[in-house]
Amino acid sequence: MSLLEIQGLHAHYGKSHILHGIDMQVEEASIVSLLGRNGSGRSTLLKAMMGLVPPTAGTITLAGQAITGKRPFDICRQGLGYVPEERLVFPNLTVAENLAMGGQKGAPGAHKWSIDEMYDYFPRLKERNAIRAGYLSGGEQQMLTICRSLLGNPRVLLIDEPTEGLAPKIVDVVMEVILDIGRRGVAVVLVEQKLTIALKVAQKVMVMGHGELVYSGTPDELEASPDVRRNWLEVA
Ligand SMILES: Nc1ncnc2c1ncn2[C@@H]1O[C@H](COP(=O)(O)OP(=O)(O)OP(=O)(O)O)[C@@H](O)[C@H]1O
Ligand SMILES: [Mg+2]
Repeated sequence: MSLLEIQGLHAHYGKSHILHGIDMQVEEASIVSLLGRNGSGRSTLLKAMMGLVPPTAGTITLAGQAITGKRPFDICRQGLGYVPEERLVFPNLTVAENLAMGGQKGAPGAHKWSIDEMYDYFPRLKERNAIRAGYLSGGEQQMLTICRSLLGNPRVLLIDEPTEGLAPKIVDVVMEVILDIGRRGVAVVLVEQKLTIALKVAQKVMVMGHGELVYSGTPDELEASPDVRRNWLEVA
């Protein structure tokens, strides 16, 4: 059985049917890039996994335990971490206080992260550790959001467009951190609009279209499939 298993997942916003029967497996310590055009349902899929959008059908299993229909907090405690598109920091708390808030016991068997490791990843956060998070730049807030999620010691980390709006130099840092997270045995599901990054970090790529998974393969296989890119990724 895979670390994370999704079967026949459906989700709605009111009467709008958004996810149409998603089947997906994520293996331990693997990085999966989730691709697709705007509006294809990638963020909704991550939110459904986290319990932020209640699934209307289907099952989600994490390390053999069903998490379908549970509350986000409980899903988080069972080992699913989430870095949303919107950067979620406590603006009136300092960087150090924000990091302290992230600390959780974490799921059994998960890598236990320390605040020092976070400062090694992002020295900029160490320099600014006494500054209130509301004064950080967008990129710094993004780094802080990633660190807070890691300090929950997840077994699987879901990250939604972490490099959006970041300067190229910071994009490279974030990419290295994602690779390192994978090397420490944490699985990552990455929604990433930049195809080069998505292909570089992942062992497996999945493409969504209109709320369904329309392609799954290795980065090399996707590179060799211009029809998939044309039909499902490139903007017509
Ligand atoms: N809160 C909401 N209420 C109603 N419809 C929503 C809501 N959030 C998203 N949708 C709709 O669900 C569909 C999928 O959106 P989703 O955010 O999952 O797409 P995405 O692949 O993450 O794309 P992007 O991030 O580029 O917008 C879209 O048609 C969107 O308009
Ligand atoms: Mg999205």
